[in-house]
Amino acid sequence: MMVCEYKPGLEGIPAAQSSISYVDGQKGILEYRGIRIEELAEKSTFLETAYLLIWGKLPSKEELETFEHEVRYHRRIKYRIRDMMKCFPESGHPMDALQASAAALGLFYSLRDLHNPVYIRDSVVRLIATIPTMVAAFQLMRKGNDPVRPRDDLDYSANFLYMLDEREPDPLMARIFDICLILQVEHTMNASTFSARVTASTLTDPYAVVASAVGTLGGPLHGGANEEVIQMLEKIGSVENVRPYIEDCLQSKSKIMGFGHRVYKVKDPRAIILQNLAEQLFEKFGHDKFYDIAQEMELVVEEKLGSKGIYPNIDFYSGLVYRKMGIPTDLFTPIFAIARVAGWLAHWKEQLAENRIFRPTQVYNGLHEITYTPIDKR
Ligand code: ACO
Repeated sequence: MMVCEYKPGLEGIPAAQSSISYVDGQKGILEYRGIRIEELAEKSTFLETAYLLIWGKLPSKEELETFEHEVRYHRRIKYRIRDMMKCFPESGHPMDALQASAAALGLFYSLRDLHNPVYIRDSVVRLIATIPTMVAAFQLMRKGNDPVRPRDDLDYSANFLYMLDEREPDPLMARIFDICLILQVEHTMNASTFSARVTASTLTDPYAVVASAVGTLGGPLHGGANEEVIQMLEKIGSVENVRPYIEDCLQSKSKIMGFGHRVYKVKDPRAIILQNLAEQLFEKFGHDKFYDIAQEMELVVEEKLGSKGIYPNIDFYSGLVYRKMGIPTDLFTPIFAIARVAGWLAHWKEQLAENRIFRPTQVYNGLHEITYTPIDKR
């Protein structure tokens, strides 16, 4: 057997062949099925982009209408799921609530026929349709309120924002939210997608695939960074404090949240689009002083770390956009999951099409032939 060099974090090691998305980290290019992210953000919707990723092509008008109708029809969650969620502690993190709820869906739809395209489509539709409802339901229930029923007359993103506080959102806000979902839906072989593909490779059900990916997305080095960006901006408090804060981080070798990326060595193209969306929101709904702090941070980090290729990533500006929409900070990562579920499902389908169970090797660096010491002698 060929002995390969151990690479921590599997950096640079291909884990799959994939035609879903493409990143050029030097040039700052991101494509979904060959289409540039900038074009999709301008012209597409989240559900159309989800269709593109999962079924490999842009839908016809009729295919899109059918898909949108199916998702609308499946938005409601079962009473028993809602009752189960009521028992969750209100102090629990919404990502944990989402992971548990996504896994619980598998209990209700336990038939597992991975060769049946109807089963595949039903699962895709159900997960994309119900995950936002579950996120919104937990948000209301943890405040002691009843969840709001989805509204069939509202589009996907407008309905989610409506379910959060029972107010119909401003159309610009709903459109910007939809673009955010497009930007977050897919991003090649990141940690949560890898996790989804490993789980998929065991031929388990798609609910387990999504639940394991949600658990992986929650960490602060991955999707959880957008939450930490806002906490960091709150801690910094003013533009004058930016430079000392960054110098402190560099001295103590701690990471500056929202900066750096394993693949991008220039500013993340999604951060560029998000920054523009944030500016549109500030123009219509009022300025946010955190934006001034963020801009100063970008300047100082570029000065100090630009030579290492450390620039803002997607999480740096997504938090500012969601904050301006009045969304609680600990929902930022669940919203990331609402988007990313479609990317995970695209990878689930791709993995099934040419499956081989993941079973990497390891470099053993432990001991051998050690004798067992009885407990009273230790
Ligand atoms: N702040 C300060 N220094 C950084 C940062 C940062 N945010 N990111 C990387 N560096 C430095 C490292 O200290 C290291 O320096 P060294 O070579 O002198 O030791 C060098 O850049 C390489 O960094 P690594 O951590 O080895 O890069 P890796 O590819 O493993 O990590 C990661 C990428 C995890 C995203 C990292 O940049 C980070 O922790 N960023 C902050 C968290 C964050 O924003 N995560 C969201 C990423 S986007 C997403 O997951 C959706």
